[in-house]
Amino acid sequence: MKVLTWDNSLSVQIQEIDDDHRKLVDLFNMLNRSVEDGDAANYIEAVMEELISCTVWHFRHEERLMLKYAYEGFAEHKTEHQELIDSAREVQQKLLQEGKSISSEDIEFLENWLTGHILGADMDLGSYLGEVM
Ligand SMILES: [Fe+2]
Repeated sequence: MKVLTWDNSLSVQIQEIDDDHRKLVDLFNMLNRSVEDGDAANYIEAVMEELISCTVWHFRHEERLMLKYAYEGFAEHKTEHQELIDSAREVQQKLLQEGKSISSEDIEFLENWLTGHILGADMDLGSYLGEVM
């Protein structure tokens, strides 16, 4: 199992955002482990729901900071957030359908989703906030 490890390469240099991201990485690892261990579908579904709820909450947090500090890339960043939530909900729907389980491709997709967004859009936001906060 590939465990996502938090290290400085994932830091956007804004403490409150990094704290949220750490939590998301923990939840992602928990999901990955439960899929790997073949845990019951309703348990995996609960972990998936926690990951998605936490992500939605975290995105609102970032969006609030963007508004507070008049971030120019707000609309674009917010659209990316919505797309990410929509795709995670698709994986979740698949899981909810009877007889379907999360595949390693789904896990890989979620991992790329998480790290891709942190390393892309969130790094830009982090360096902006670092200057204005
Ligand atoms: Fe973001």
